[in-house]
Amino acid sequence: MADAQTVLLGVTGSIAAYKAVELARLLIKRGVTVKTVMTEAAAEFVTPLTFRSITGHPVGIDMFEEPTEWKAAHVSLAAEADAIAIAPATADAIAKLAEGIADELLFSVVLASKAPLVVAPAMHTEMYENPATQHNLDLLRSRGAVVVEAQSGQLASGDVGTGRLAPPEKIVDAVMGELGRARDLAGHRVLVSAGGTQEPLDAVRYLGNRSSGKTGYAIARECALRGAAVVLVSAPTALRSPRDVELVAVRTAEEMAEAVFERFDEADAVVMSAAVADFSPAEPSIGKIKKDAAPKSIALRRNVDILAELGKRKAKQVLIGFAAETDDIAANARGKLEAKNLDLVVANDVSRPGVGFGADDNEVVLVGPDADETLRRMSKVQLARHIVDRLVGLLEARGRPA
Ligand SMILES: Cc1cc2nc3c(=O)[nH]c(=O)nc-3n(C[C@H](O)[C@H](O)[C@H](O)COP(=O)(O)O)c2cc1C
Repeated sequence: MADAQTVLLGVTGSIAAYKAVELARLLIKRGVTVKTVMTEAAAEFVTPLTFRSITGHPVGIDMFEEPTEWKAAHVSLAAEADAIAIAPATADAIAKLAEGIADELLFSVVLASKAPLVVAPAMHTEMYENPATQHNLDLLRSRGAVVVEAQSGQLASGDVGTGRLAPPEKIVDAVMGELGRARDLAGHRVLVSAGGTQEPLDAVRYLGNRSSGKTGYAIARECALRGAAVVLVSAPTALRSPRDVELVAVRTAEEMAEAVFERFDEADAVVMSAAVADFSPAEPSIGKIKKDAAPKSIALRRNVDILAELGKRKAKQVLIGFAAETDDIAANARGKLEAKNLDLVVANDVSRPGVGFGADDNEVVLVGPDADETLRRMSKVQLARHIVDRLVGLLEARGRPA
């Protein structure tokens, strides 16, 4: 039997800390090894002995305690964890996680770990709704953490409002979801393109588009988190390269084509989320065009259609493309799927405000060979997770004998 996966359960100083005992029990029932780390404040609410007795493992609290079973506790625990669940998470803990503060063993472990993170807040309504807490939760989400939202109901204070810890079963489901995803792309090579290409007009000017690269970067990060070897071919963006991803920086459609074609054969899956210019100036000026020498018109030439070319060259690869549409979204995307020999098209309506280009959210239709899947509006980080789930399904289907 495969070794059980390990969940590091982080318990912080909330009145709901006692509910983490039930959470530990439920996780163990699902076949998971649970190791607990408590903050000093959490130990004021529930004794470490309770968690040690339930989980059968020593409980970490003090960063400076002489290690017994563990070597350097924060490092070895971080490496051991297949997923980390902070439940309940206090406002203080959420702020520390968002800021990268490492003043206690628990927060040091989270910083030192690459494992997926699930955070289940519990606090008084005003603390939960405070813009500082909401901003911190958004920051954690934007980095890929799963936040199991607090619920509305009676709070420990007797007040009624939002801030109750989500039911343990719901937190367990979120943790199991992360464990399932944890290494499902191990051994696969994924090539992702992102950003909007820039086509030179002269020495300083270019024709560009409004793509921010957020979706492609989120997909690259999600694939890396799930164990893939990821190459991200990126046109210019304002984004930081995700961790554990090989970044290949390009500027023009031509450079992107070259970088992608060069790496295509060794890839198992390709996600082309870059907004590649269809046209570029036919004769860019070498120097800067003077104000009084402005051309009356600019001749354009067609760029290579990278996705169509990949569709032609495709052997074993799963090939996912994007379609920016303004009408007949699904029908146009299906046309693209068939014409370019793709396995999935992520189609979005770029005419709608608040979603798509540059925004943090998107609302898309996933068009595969069989059915369309319309996804509700969600963050690009969540969307990346859905797309990568589909990618994993396509890779699995490919691996199965017909
Ligand atoms: C009785 C009591 C209940 C508390 N419950 C909560 C809570 O539910 N959520 C929260 O964010 N803070 C709560 N606090 C405040 C935290 O314990 C305090 O911010 C502490 O510094 C958190 O430390 P930690 O994040 O390191 O665990 C409570 C404090 C007390 C005394």
